[in-house]
Amino acid sequence: MKIGVVGLGYIGSVTSVALAEAGYEVIGVDIDESKVKALSAGEPPIYEPGLKEMLVKNVKRLEFSVDYNKLSEVDLIFVIVPTPNKDGKIYLKYVDDVVENIKKVNKNAIVIIKSTVLPGTASNLMQKTGMIIVSNPEFTKEGSAIDDTLKPDRVVIGGNNKNAIEKVKKIWEFTKSPIIETTNENAEMIKYASNSFLAVKVSYINEIANLCEKVPNCDVEVVARGMGLDKRIAPYFLKVGIGFGGSCFPKDTMAFISFARDLNESLSIIESAVSVNKSRILRIVSLLEDKFKDVETTTKIGVLGLTFKANTDDTRESQSIKLVESLLSKGFKVNAYDPMAKVKLDNINLFSSSEECIDNSDAIVIATEWPEFKDLNIKNKFVIDMRRMLSLNSDPNLKIVGYYG
Ligand code: UDX
Repeated sequence: MKIGVVGLGYIGSVTSVALAEAGYEVIGVDIDESKVKALSAGEPPIYEPGLKEMLVKNVKRLEFSVDYNKLSEVDLIFVIVPTPNKDGKIYLKYVDDVVENIKKVNKNAIVIIKSTVLPGTASNLMQKTGMIIVSNPEFTKEGSAIDDTLKPDRVVIGGNNKNAIEKVKKIWEFTKSPIIETTNENAEMIKYASNSFLAVKVSYINEIANLCEKVPNCDVEVVARGMGLDKRIAPYFLKVGIGFGGSCFPKDTMAFISFARDLNESLSIIESAVSVNKSRILRIVSLLEDKFKDVETTTKIGVLGLTFKANTDDTRESQSIKLVESLLSKGFKVNAYDPMAKVKLDNINLFSSSEECIDNSDAIVIATEWPEFKDLNIKNKFVIDMRRMLSLNSDPNLKIVGYYG
């Protein structure tokens, strides 16, 4: 079976490669010629563990092109293009344009929307274009994207055309994962409700961490472990941190909140999760302001980690970057180090090792959980360990967030 994929960004390239690994022939289309060229040469557009190897291994089943005409012979076409926020609302032009372009070359194709779109989007598009559209949201985490695609916890397939649903089910049967077959709207809602729930979980534990800091002998990591062993709670997404970032949670929670408002409903729990997330940065800045009251304009803060989490080079909506901006706005000097991030930031000193960054800084914030930051030897510096990378010890200069005792 030959499958089309339009959009060769993060999820698009991973999906293409994973489908090829599962034995399908894949034709991937993107308007960005550089992405197409790179993928054709065996170079993924992003860093994702295992992706390059799997791309090279399956090169015979993969074709990449900028030409939509390549999709004229393909029955099933995934749409995996970004749905960013514009003025707090979801921006659907990329999805709309892709569906129109597919219609021009293959009006009988089954369009499978993997892009994250609000409930009602697929139905509107079906009405507008007359195309058959199946909703098939992804639940892929950066850093484990291949595994999440080949062995997802569940596959959600929404639509109103039995034959189309059966075909999409067939594609994913190899995963042996539970398949939820439902309406387009339910499938779209499941994606937003899931991502927002995970964001709530992260903010929840971060707020409990604030409380643990004030209670002697309380350690949020122990509390999280104790909570997570309850099967109803589960241990995942209870890791205290600098707050959620990345290309999905911040944008999806915003879009969901504004979607609800338009329906005269409020998602107050999700709104609170977003505001707790913002306060994460303020908390670090005020800790540093308290510590360096008089010398703040000459104080150099070393930020370790710029990506939104470990095992990715992605800095989109990274809380570390927001922290850097906030520190600069308060007059601090900022040093930084990240093993993978490819980001250009004005007015900061970027170092090529954590040691150099530490040596040149007055205080350190560990912002991303890169394994190499585990138990760094930092002597005589004020340290804010947002990712709990350091062992608890009695160094009075060490401020391990989420622990006080
Ligand atoms: C997320 C969803 O998990 C995925 O299902 C969806 O398809 C896309 O968005 P991703 O953005 O790759 O995936 O990151 P994820 O691993 O979910 O983490 C999101 C943010 O929350 C990161 O900034 C991470 O550091 C933070 N986080 C996560 C915590 O602070 N604590 C946790 O316990 C888990």
